[in-house]
Amino acid sequence: MKVTVVGAGAVGATCADNIARKELCSELVLLDIKEGIAEGKAQDMMQTATLLGFDTKIVGSTNDYTKTANSDVVVITSGLPRKPGMTREELIGVNAGIVKGVCENILKHSPNAIIIVISNPMDTMTYLALKSTGLPKNRIIGMGGTLDSSRFKYQLSQHLGCSPSDLNAVVVGGHGDTTMIPLISKATWNSVPVTKFLSAEQQEKIVKDTMVGGATLTALIGTSAWYAPGAAGAALVESILRDEKKLFTCCVALDGEYGQKDICLGVPVTIGRSGWEKIIDFDLNAEEKAAFEKSAAAVKSMNDVLATL
Ligand code: 2OP
Repeated sequence: MKVTVVGAGAVGATCADNIARKELCSELVLLDIKEGIAEGKAQDMMQTATLLGFDTKIVGSTNDYTKTANSDVVVITSGLPRKPGMTREELIGVNAGIVKGVCENILKHSPNAIIIVISNPMDTMTYLALKSTGLPKNRIIGMGGTLDSSRFKYQLSQHLGCSPSDLNAVVVGGHGDTTMIPLISKATWNSVPVTKFLSAEQQEKIVKDTMVGGATLTALIGTSAWYAPGAAGAALVESILRDEKKLFTCCVALDGEYGQKDICLGVPVTIGRSGWEKIIDFDLNAEEKAAFEKSAAAVKSMNDVLATL
């Protein structure tokens, strides 16, 4: 198996590191447009191989897509990350051109690849990848909800004083500070609704802190968050290559599901060897449905900007 990660910044390099540590593939290509960055990070990671005990071969490439040939999965992290105070949506002008170009180059050499999009604004970049490549919809997966759901579980665990791994909780909708919808009514702690243990104020705070999870980190770190988005990308690669059929929230093309069409938006899906395989209906309540419609409208108006670029 072969995986390519495009973009060797904080998120891309972390994603590659996680993939190598788990030995998800025999070859991993890390590609970046900046001269030497990908080669340097690839070498650095390879020098951890004997320490960490992995055999995945990591190859760095400065924009040479021939090295990515015959990749089974490609993770796109390239583009500008947001700076403190910026929204993900402000990146659309620059990142749309970058993501479109990356998709073209990737498909020239890996026509059968499954593409995972991490670049922001993620919902619109996923939609752009789908429309510009014309690939079957199941092969285009936006990562956002996987990360947001993990952040949601972290916030819940802090208030419940429990292990995040004992929690089931998902964030649907867009991957934006105001468009994501943490479904607290459906979150459980080993099958018991978390709402049983949390006051209304705590619930409100958890939802709010989850929604600004990325912005909080951007303010603290000064650039894009990196460990969690990188790990979320690697978790999707793992579920694909091992055909795990795990349930993640991912941004996928909707064709009537959740009442939406002609949009890529975060919903619960199973992820396996064919990409995203099945959308699961989580039966949103009236309030959640209304929030989902609002989120879809915001993402659609961002998608409309693509036509003006
Ligand atoms: C985040 O939320 C980078 O969008 C990513 O951290």
